[in-house]
Amino acid sequence: MTGTPNTKRVFIKTYGCQMNVYDSDRMTDALAIEGYEPTDHVEDADLVLLNTCHIREKAAEKVYSELGRVRVLKEAAAREGRRVVVGVAGCVAQAEGDEIARRAPVVDLVVGPQSYQHLPALLADVARGKRPVETEFAIAEKFERLPAAARERTQSRGVTAFLTIQEGCDKFCTFCVVPYTRGAEVSRPVARIVEEAERLVEAGVREVTLLGQNVNAWHGAGPDGSEWGLGQLLYRLAEIPGLARLRYTTSHPRDMDDALIAVHRDLPALMPYLHLPVQSGSDAILAAMNRRHRADDYLRLVDRIRDVRPDIAMSGDFIVGFPGESDADFEATMRLVERVGYAAAYSFKYSPRPGTPAAGLGTQVSDAVASERLYRLQALIAAQQTAFNQSKVGTHMDVLFERAGRRPGQIMGRSPYLQAVQLDGDPSWIGRIGRVAISGLGTNSLFGARIEAVPAPRATPLPEMAT
Ligand code: SAH
Ligand code: SF4
Ligand code: F3S
Repeated sequence: MTGTPNTKRVFIKTYGCQMNVYDSDRMTDALAIEGYEPTDHVEDADLVLLNTCHIREKAAEKVYSELGRVRVLKEAAAREGRRVVVGVAGCVAQAEGDEIARRAPVVDLVVGPQSYQHLPALLADVARGKRPVETEFAIAEKFERLPAAARERTQSRGVTAFLTIQEGCDKFCTFCVVPYTRGAEVSRPVARIVEEAERLVEAGVREVTLLGQNVNAWHGAGPDGSEWGLGQLLYRLAEIPGLARLRYTTSHPRDMDDALIAVHRDLPALMPYLHLPVQSGSDAILAAMNRRHRADDYLRLVDRIRDVRPDIAMSGDFIVGFPGESDADFEATMRLVERVGYAAAYSFKYSPRPGTPAAGLGTQVSDAVASERLYRLQALIAAQQTAFNQSKVGTHMDVLFERAGRRPGQIMGRSPYLQAVQLDGDPSWIGRIGRVAISGLGTNSLFGARIEAVPAPRATPLPEMAT
């Protein structure tokens, strides 16, 4: 199926982290200027983009299997006389650009995550019969030069949105590809971030999650020229009328300073949920990972955060089976998890990544041992998550209503702790916050009933809810 003569359709498949989700939306914006409309149906697309992730081997390998499926579609379209352009974007593109071009003849263009501003030019190259591979690091320009037309595009964004404020990473954990795929740390300027947040709120967004590979390393010049950190930025964003909730992710323990911790005490719009990965509870492994702190530093940090914000929910990331991880090292991780008590956490088997220092370490842990450790860790985390969710049954929580629920007459929202809450409600509530009595716990969500309308955390022009 083709659109009206001048309409082209783009299908973007997104893998990996939230930064890729954000980037895919911005690519959609940039392509809108070129006359592309987004489609959810790959078979309708004139342009197929895979926005890829390189973090673990499995993630990277998905790209090649997906390209196999796209090749079938491209060939079928060609038989109908229709050209489908196929592009690989994201972190695999950055890491394996030329190899992709070599391994997958179906690919017409490769574009790394810092080069999306060049997409229109790359498409023009493809039209001229070239096969461009663009992996320059030009992050300072990324998306900042989108013409006004794209910036003003009032795409329906829903109630919650991501906003990238920082990209890249200078930490060089020995297992991680991000410093190589995303380059050095770059913070976006305050004015750009505020402008984008205001636009999101105008489009109906009520909750913004600030994104960065190392988001709490964000820094910039405030309007008076003074040096701002993430805390000041959060305060500035909370002034935007209608912006009811703020979150940020992902943070590094080393960049969690006192000023930022205090914001968790003082700023009601900042939600009491913090993703603070530690990766391991063993000092030897933390040192080998180049995390640059000890397990005890992390535990004291969590205590300091909980001192100022006792109801904060913690989440984290863990790697098991890092080279040289002994039984005792792993038990230290289990103890750390027991001590912290997570509301949620993500855990992964170590995956050696080409070009990273850890990939060259000899003492690899056997897959059977790593699998067993992962199983035990995930069981502990799952039990903690259930206990956390259960602890909210019988309480009252503010819920931001996001969309229609599973069944007619139901509505779905999120608690301050990112829990999904299902309840009887009306679609007209979407975008508002209501107080909900939590009555039960299902597999993936809480159940409850609305008890009263609540004002947003600050005086805002949000519509009041009728009780
Ligand atoms: N910037 C974030 C992490 C981004 S990557 C931080 O510092 O915490 C997301 C998660 O993927 C990491 O926290 C880590 O747990 C996991 N990860 C990264 N590289 C990995 C690898 N080589 N093998 C297994 N898991 C990995
Ligand atoms: Fe990767 Fe470490 Fe940077 Fe996180 S802090 S992105 S794990 S190098
Ligand atoms: Fe993956 Fe790149 Fe994000 S490697 S996790 S998509 S920064």
